[in-house]
Amino acid sequence: MDNMDSNKNTDKTRRSRYLRLEEANEEAIKGGGTLRMQQQHDKGKLTARERLQLLMDKGSFQEIGKFVTHRSSEFGLEKEKYLGDGVVTGYGTINGRLTYVFSQDFTVFGGSLSESHAKKIVTIMDLALKNGAPIVGINDSGGARIQEGVESLGGYADIFYKNTMASGVVPQISVIMGPCAGGAVYSPAITDFIFMVEHTSYMFVTGPKVVKTVTHEEVTSEALGGAQAHSSKSGVAHFAEPNEIVCLEHVKHLLSYLPQNCEDIPPVLTVPTSNPDGLKLDELIPDNSEEAYDIRDVILGVMDSNSFMEIHKNFAQNIVVGFARLNGRSIGIVANQSSVLAGVLDIEASQKGARFVRFCDCFNIPLLVFEDVPGFLPGTHQEWNGIIKNGAKLLYAFCEATVPRVTVITRKAYGGAYDVMNSKHIGADMNFAWPTAEIAVMGAKGAAEIIFKKEISKAENHEEELAKREKEYVEKFANPYVAAARGFIDEVIMPHETREKCIAAFIMLENKVDTLPKKKHGNIPL
Ligand code: HXC
Repeated sequence: MDNMDSNKNTDKTRRSRYLRLEEANEEAIKGGGTLRMQQQHDKGKLTARERLQLLMDKGSFQEIGKFVTHRSSEFGLEKEKYLGDGVVTGYGTINGRLTYVFSQDFTVFGGSLSESHAKKIVTIMDLALKNGAPIVGINDSGGARIQEGVESLGGYADIFYKNTMASGVVPQISVIMGPCAGGAVYSPAITDFIFMVEHTSYMFVTGPKVVKTVTHEEVTSEALGGAQAHSSKSGVAHFAEPNEIVCLEHVKHLLSYLPQNCEDIPPVLTVPTSNPDGLKLDELIPDNSEEAYDIRDVILGVMDSNSFMEIHKNFAQNIVVGFARLNGRSIGIVANQSSVLAGVLDIEASQKGARFVRFCDCFNIPLLVFEDVPGFLPGTHQEWNGIIKNGAKLLYAFCEATVPRVTVITRKAYGGAYDVMNSKHIGADMNFAWPTAEIAVMGAKGAAEIIFKKEISKAENHEEELAKREKEYVEKFANPYVAAARGFIDEVIMPHETREKCIAAFIMLENKVDTLPKKKHGNIPL
């Protein structure tokens, strides 16, 4: 064979090798085939790859494990293999920042999780941990690959373990865009934030059929574990989105407030910021201290314009939590909502607040608290369901937080709730009060009824006496000045000054260093 022949042969071999790669790439991209992709679209759902295209910066996605297949040979599975095995995994950028992703492909065995599928997810989680970047997981799966049995269960456990190891190290976001049932729910449950899409996603430990057999309840998947149920009733989901496109936009938006990992600081916007609404704050608090107002107006009046992203909006609405920017910097907001149950702290509000405080503390996001709280909700329901241990979660979370912490008391700061809501006694750095603040053991009327019981009962006109005593109590205690005299309040400020005061406080606290006593870990009341 002369040289020319040998070159031709090499060319041919090379071309056929290149062709093989091209074909394999095409095959992988097809997932479970065009028919199943069409079925996915017919359900109002995008495919795994379409979702990643929307999520990641254009052209940035790099796939890992595209040709992975399962190793199962049971139930004829050895004859049915799909490149990628039902999950697309890799990395890329979102808003220009490195992010690791997985996106389950329902067109391949219903997105069910095999040993290989699980390994792909664990691989990107390991990379995220080593390189300190967030993980976004898009879930659309029929659960454990039924044909695989325990190997699939082991795969889930590997993911749960890795989720737990990554918790507090890198932000983890779960996006539910289809079924997520059985034990599979526990991976999203361990992550920091869960997004769900209305009408096309659901999460439950046991589905409607099992529910009917066990409890005789008739319930649809949507009612049992849809986006509305989990964002408003159980609090499992932080966001209920109208469709997948809006959902993925919101995931990107959420990431824009977060640092890459626990040793990083949140991104700072350098564009000039302002808030023209600050002046309106002076008119906000009603004269009658029983009258409600919307605490979101305070947040909007203090933070950078259009920067507030509310989290857990539909759940425990008596407390408002979310991210916003103050002079371009990410801040975690916790605020009692006077217009819902007068902003009282109950079990759900305490859980919601505590989890959020802990997230911010994990990821170096300073905390700003707006306080107007009449106390903890009384009653048998609350006591029997554990307001003691649940209220303690919020208390514990604040006590333990070492990030810069500022409180603004707008009106009521009553009883134990005064202590709990980021008081200086439990480690807050700077506490402000508006002149409308009432810092006391309880409301003036209730207090007067107890401490002046004798005087009121002896008086000719009980009502008049009560009103007089109530006024006396208000003048003495239901104001910010007693607390300011003790140094529990650093400054009494006009509402319109709040933005400037908070900006100055957080700049002053920028290099705060605070450590907890050496321990393995604390034992938060769960
Ligand atoms: C293997 C599965 C599968 C699974 C679905 N498929 N779930 N294959 N293992 N778990 C396949 C189907 O055979 C079908 O294949 C394709 O995916 C689409 O499923 P359909 O049923 O046609 O779709 P749909 O009508 O939309 O219903 C979706 C579904 C249903 C509700 C998810 O498929 C379902 O109930 N699946 C089983 C759910 C389940 O019981 N999983 C195990 C849970 S226990 P073809 O070839 O026809 O396209 C669990 C334990 C985890 O997850 C424990 C961790 C600790």
